[in-house]
Amino acid sequence: MSDTSTLTKGIEIIELKSCSEQRLDEVARILHESFKDDWPDAWPTIEDAAAEVTECLSDDRIGYVALGTNGSVVGWVGAIRAYSGRVWELHPLCVDANSRRSGIGRALMDRLAQQVCDLKGLTIYLGTDDQNDMTSLSGQDLYVDTWEQVAKIKNNGRHPFSFYEKLGFKIVGVVPDANGYGKPDIMMAKRVGCV
Ligand SMILES: CC(C)(COP(=O)(O)OP(=O)(O)OC[C@H]1O[C@@H](n2cnc3c(N)ncnc32)[C@H](O)[C@@H]1OP(=O)(O)O)[C@@H](O)C(=O)NCCC(=O)NCCS
Repeated sequence: MSDTSTLTKGIEIIELKSCSEQRLDEVARILHESFKDDWPDAWPTIEDAAAEVTECLSDDRIGYVALGTNGSVVGWVGAIRAYSGRVWELHPLCVDANSRRSGIGRALMDRLAQQVCDLKGLTIYLGTDDQNDMTSLSGQDLYVDTWEQVAKIKNNGRHPFSFYEKLGFKIVGVVPDANGYGKPDIMMAKRVGCV
């Protein structure tokens, strides 16, 4: 095992920055396809997704790619350095639709958390939008009883906040109307550094 790759349950995790052009194209395809139905404004075209992947290669970012047993890309994660490196903002995370619910998202997040810890970061932070009536916070006035509504949040289907909760993330805030009236962003964070 090299310094830049780890093996988890038959999945190999490598650094985004070590990927060939061909793999980066696969990375962009998975990004576009993973968000197009529930977050259509995120990366509406493959070209938008490819531009995001290019940004993820910059110095203030880290990223990891999961490869399946045949070497194809099955998911990836990126993060942006913030607050002088004490906090890293997750952006983005996606697993190919055919490979979900088999531990790949968790494995990518574990690898990212290890790297943030190694870089002396303390926190991973993220915003996960609800643009599509996916949680009980959708369509609500979040300026009224804000924390009661957050405490009682329900998943109407497949919103990823439940995935992050399973990984130990807490909801630390909401941005009301982030995507239009009644379409909030849900802010979550987890302590990963050694205190
Ligand atoms: C969210 C996503 C990355 C999860 O990846 P995954 O590989 O399917 O997740 P894992 O298999 O590692 O799941 C880890 C745990 O979370 C659970 N989980 C995964 N997705 C979940 C969801 N939407 N709701 C509830 N629980 C979920 C799994 O059942 C598993 O639970 P367990 O540990 O008790 O067995 C993937 O569904 C995805 O790419 N979705 C589309 C893009 C997206 O939503 N990105 C995040 C935007 S902020």
